[in-house]
Amino acid sequence: MGSVGAKDVPVLLSPEGLRVDGRRVNELRPIKITAGALKHADGSAFVEWGQNKVMAAVYGPREVHPRHLQQNTKAVIQCKYNMAAFSVDERKRPGLDRRSQEISKVIAEAFESVVFAEEFPRTSIDIYIEVLQANAGTRCAGLVAASVALADAGIPMADLLPAVAVGKAGGAIILDLKKEEDNFGEADLPMALVPQSGRLVLLQMEGHMTRDELATALDLGVQGCRGIYEVMKQALRDRYSVAPAAEAGA
Ligand code: CDP
Repeated sequence: MGSVGAKDVPVLLSPEGLRVDGRRVNELRPIKITAGALKHADGSAFVEWGQNKVMAAVYGPREVHPRHLQQNTKAVIQCKYNMAAFSVDERKRPGLDRRSQEISKVIAEAFESVVFAEEFPRTSIDIYIEVLQANAGTRCAGLVAASVALADAGIPMADLLPAVAVGKAGGAIILDLKKEEDNFGEADLPMALVPQSGRLVLLQMEGHMTRDELATALDLGVQGCRGIYEVMKQALRDRYSVAPAAEAGA
C-alpha cells in the first residue's frame, strides 16, 4: 500500500453512515450480468459490477492440456484469471504473477465443490476470466461470471456460486468493498457461497477484525451473496427463456 499522508486518506464513513460512493454499509454496488456474451466459447458471461468489468469464457468438457493433468475418475477444472494491462490505474505488467496464480487456484477449487466432475472423466473444464476494468472485488466478480458461464455451457453443477467481499472500513462492517475501501480500510474478506446448502467454498481474509465483527461480516456476506444469486439466475432466465410468440411457433 505504501505510506500515505493523512490528507490522502478518504473519509470511508460519514457521520450519517454513508460510504465514499454514498452507499449504506449493507448495500451492493449495481450489478449487471449478461449470459452468453461471447459467440465462440461453449459458455460465457459478462459482469459489470460497480466499476468492475469482467468477462468469463468456459470450454469443455474437452481434452486435457497439459496431458499429465488428466484424471481417470473425473474432469479436471482449470481456471486462468487474468487482469488486462489497462484494467487498473497504473498499468499492470501483463502476464502471470503470483496474485493471478493464487486467484486462479482458489476459484478452480471453489468450483470443484459444485461441478459434477465425475460425470466427465479424463476431460478438462477450462475457465478463463479476463478482468477488463478493476475496482476491488474482481475475484468475486470473476467467480460470479464463471458460474454463469459454466451454466451457459451446460456444465452440470449442484448450484451457482455467488460471491462478494465484505470487510471493515471507517470502523464499520461493510458489504462489497470498492477500491478506496479495499486500499484504506481495515479488513477485506472475499467469500463465495453455495446458496442451497449454505456452505462457504471460498473464504479469504486480509486485515484485522474481532470475532464478533467476523460473525457480523459473514452474515452480511451471506445476505449479499443471496442478492447476487437472484441476479445470476435472472441472467440465465433472460438468455434461455423463450418468448411466448416464439414458443407458439410464430
Ligand atoms: O480484485 P480483488 O479485490 O479480488 O483482489 P485484490 O488483490 O484485493 O485487489 C484489489 C484491487 O486492487 C483490484 O480489484 C484492483 O482494483 C487493484 N489492483 C491494482 O490496481 N493493481 C494490481 N496489480 C492488482 C490489484
